[in-house]
Amino acid sequence: MDQTDRLKIAFITPEMAPLAKTGGLADVTGALPKFLSQESHLEVAVWLPFYREIRNKNLKLKSAASNLRLNLFPDETKNTFSICEYQADGFKVYLIQNDYYFDRDYLYGTPDGDYPDNGLRFAFFCLAALQSFKPLNWWPDLIHAHDWQSALTLAYLKHLLNKDDLYKNARSLFTIHNLAYQGIFPPEILGQAGLPDYLFNPEDMEFYGQVNYLKAGLLYAEAISTVSPTYSQEIQRPEFGFGLDGVLRKRSDRLFGILNGIDYQEWNPATDPALPAHYRPDALEGKSVCRQELLRAFNFEPAGQQPVIGLVSRLAGQKGFDLLVKSLDEILKRDFYLIILGTGEKQIQDMLIQAARKYPERFGLKIAFDDRLARLIYAGSDFFLIPSRYEPCGLTQMYSLRYGTIPIVRSTGGLKDSVEGFNPQRLEGNGFLFEKYETNALLAALDLALSFYRQEPYWPKLIDNAFKSDFSWKKSASSYYELYLKILSS
Ligand code: ADP
Ligand code: GLC
Repeated sequence: MDQTDRLKIAFITPEMAPLAKTGGLADVTGALPKFLSQESHLEVAVWLPFYREIRNKNLKLKSAASNLRLNLFPDETKNTFSICEYQADGFKVYLIQNDYYFDRDYLYGTPDGDYPDNGLRFAFFCLAALQSFKPLNWWPDLIHAHDWQSALTLAYLKHLLNKDDLYKNARSLFTIHNLAYQGIFPPEILGQAGLPDYLFNPEDMEFYGQVNYLKAGLLYAEAISTVSPTYSQEIQRPEFGFGLDGVLRKRSDRLFGILNGIDYQEWNPATDPALPAHYRPDALEGKSVCRQELLRAFNFEPAGQQPVIGLVSRLAGQKGFDLLVKSLDEILKRDFYLIILGTGEKQIQDMLIQAARKYPERFGLKIAFDDRLARLIYAGSDFFLIPSRYEPCGLTQMYSLRYGTIPIVRSTGGLKDSVEGFNPQRLEGNGFLFEKYETNALLAALDLALSFYRQEPYWPKLIDNAFKSDFSWKKSASSYYELYLKILSS
């Protein structure tokens, strides 16, 4: 197929692994374009802010355009940008460079709180991304925007650039990775972002007296997707809707749920350079070496035979730490090691630090963002715990399964769609689930899981089932491709 015949898809996203990451969104936008680009009919490019985190990586970059301006603000430093180009595996990444907005220590804010100008920072990013198509001479057939930070692209397309023929033909898909984060700002932000005042009404971007960026994505995109089939249903109910379930119900005929995948090349216990030893389903000795190394890293007895339960997570309300900490006295009556790696909200951090002090022989805690250690935890643990209150998809259960580690998860969102409860009679299933967000439910799942630990014939079969679970991107990438075609033909 001729290059020019290929459908062009522009990913607009605030994160992309390995360049800039705070959570699973980055893994998805780092991997999905790579797998879509293998499809001969598609050409994908990604737009991302040029954060300090990326600058510090000293990547090989090319200048693609410079001295561009938006004319939103009178102040030059807040108005101009350049575009740097990075060649990723099979696709290009265009980095929007404005040092005033993006050359900062963090992506969204310090541990004490969000940057106060996030509304402007991501309005700038969205408009700059759209206005870079001309200088780059790259016009997408479809714009695929991710989460609230990219949602204003849809508002700009529909309400600012709609008279421009070049933009008029672009179709759009908005993906919700997490409905809880909406980008809510005071009413003045509309004018400051260059959007018309008439959008401040309940049928548009107004939301309880404020402006809601995510709502623009939900209303103005031709289709909406979210990252698991179960979550696509859950968010249409008030308990999971964070005030937007009504909007989503209205658009339910254009709302799709596609389960995320993981990159099986990047995450492979047989080759992962972060691991002290490698292993595969038919040769598991390396997993024991990883286990010992993990116990050593947390100053536990490396030869300890008790089960190791790992957890790697953003420290956020969503992830179920209140339930975990509340249940700890009961949980730690059982004989196992609990190892947690996480970073995020200070309150959860403090709660965990206190709990770890109380159980130094059994509970290992590291407050950090550390990809290497995360991989050692996926590999070296026997079980992996995810007690989330809600979980749009969740990737850590998929990484665990890929590394032969058995997930114990709350049955919600994508966790429900990817973990199948173990059935000891039929020797089927790859993990353990619990329904109620309660200590007793968590304990029951934990006890059931522990009862099979190193027990023949269950344990080898469980590990085998984990390895056989398939969350490669192949399936999900083709679902996105089909969705793109559906949007383009409607
Ligand atoms: P979410 O996007 O809600 O944070 P996911 O399960 O989709 O949850 O993805 C989390 C991703 O972030 C995984 O790649 C996980 O390994 C990574 N991660 C989370 N916390 C840490 C941490 N403290 N250190 C290293 N990696 C982390
Ligand atoms: C969000 C969700 C998580 C999901 C990830 C990638 O951060 O919290 O469940 O896996 O996005 O889609």
